[in-house]
Amino acid sequence: MPDAEDNPLLDFGDSVFSHRDALAESYEPERILERDEEIDQYAAALRPVVEGDTPDNIMVYGNTGAGKTAVTRYMIDMMYDACDTTDTPLSTVQLNCNEMTAFKVVRTLVNDLRDSSADEFPARGLSTRDALDALYEEIDKRDGTVLLILDEIDHIEHIDSLLYDLSRSQATGRLEHANVGIIGISNDYTFRDTLSAKTKGSFAEEEIDFTPYNADELEVILSDRAAIAFNDDAITDAAIKLCAALAAQDSGNARQGLDILKAAGKTADDYGDDVVTEDHIRDAQKTVERGNLEQRISSLTVQQRHILHTLALLEIDNKTPARTKEIYSLYTDVCEQSGLDPLSTTRSVRDHLDKLSMQGFADQILRNEGRSGGKYHVYECSMRADIVLEAAPRD
Ligand SMILES: Nc1ncnc2c1ncn2[C@@H]1O[C@H](COP(=O)(O)OP(=O)(O)OP(=O)(O)O)[C@@H](O)[C@H]1O
Ligand SMILES: [Mg+2]
Repeated sequence: MPDAEDNPLLDFGDSVFSHRDALAESYEPERILERDEEIDQYAAALRPVVEGDTPDNIMVYGNTGAGKTAVTRYMIDMMYDACDTTDTPLSTVQLNCNEMTAFKVVRTLVNDLRDSSADEFPARGLSTRDALDALYEEIDKRDGTVLLILDEIDHIEHIDSLLYDLSRSQATGRLEHANVGIIGISNDYTFRDTLSAKTKGSFAEEEIDFTPYNADELEVILSDRAAIAFNDDAITDAAIKLCAALAAQDSGNARQGLDILKAAGKTADDYGDDVVTEDHIRDAQKTVERGNLEQRISSLTVQQRHILHTLALLEIDNKTPARTKEIYSLYTDVCEQSGLDPLSTTRSVRDHLDKLSMQGFADQILRNEGRSGGKYHVYECSMRADIVLEAAPRD
């Protein structure tokens, strides 16, 4: 066995980090800062639970990185504490519903509530109705309140009928003694409008809005986290301030700020620097922005990627804003180069351009040339064209 000092895995070197995991997505902060109002609203809606009553249903809205999940987790911890003090029974089940069908959501809730020694609810062969019956049976075995927390609730297929059933379960006698509260979390402010009138009526939720953080609020949040993640004096106040300002520009997203801090620390380590400065933050911001953009582009369909690529080529050549006809002609060349069959009509390309505009990849501008030319749309790329072009459209 070689000496420990010869083992490369034990050579930690110098690092600006003392606890890098504090910047990871999975880290649960001990303190929630700058969300007092939202916490008060949450507490008012949930207080009945602590007295053994049915709470209000709640919908939490806000952009990505606004702290919806973090604050919700914190509130659940606080509720368990409060219920412990008053000796009130409480059960909670939290679920991220991304890409889930209603059946899968209910099945997962049943299995989470079931004893680990009990059989799992089967993945095949039974209906959502069967799963709901099993869910009510599990809920009714519990005393006190059962809270169902559905994160990214707008992603659930057939959410309308599911929400109707769940929110009527007590009134219809499906539940005999347990109380049920539902907390939904969503990025999509139009979620409520997608529900039917009868579901809106029975769900009757309290709404809590998480507005984007401003630069000052982000500075407080990031300083607090940096004190845990970095060694003493290993990051300057100016660097944190700059990081907060950059994340505030990007729709007030705290996750973005934490990602930049982590990348900046890594850059400092790579260069062997002892202190994270504004230069490291600027560098890191580009890396993080690039990573986010690449991720968003990779979520597009192959046709959309070709159209976006075409827009970026035009942008680099200063030929934007461009009309659909001009875009179409270059688009067919781009397709030929990568061996993709192009869409056969300018109309279908225009439909994709409209979709790309709605998703924030492109800008659509209306031109009105009066009687002579009429009205038409022109398009330009709204993302950094150089980054778009770095990713081959066929990747
Ligand atoms: N007020 C806050 N105090 C401390 N940390 C926070 C606060 N707000 C957000 N964070 C941290 O920022 C990150 C993003 O927050 P969170 O995951 O709660 O956002 P979200 O609103 O759920 O976003 P998404 O819609 O993308 O799921 C997390 O790491 C969280 O710990
Ligand atoms: Mg979340």
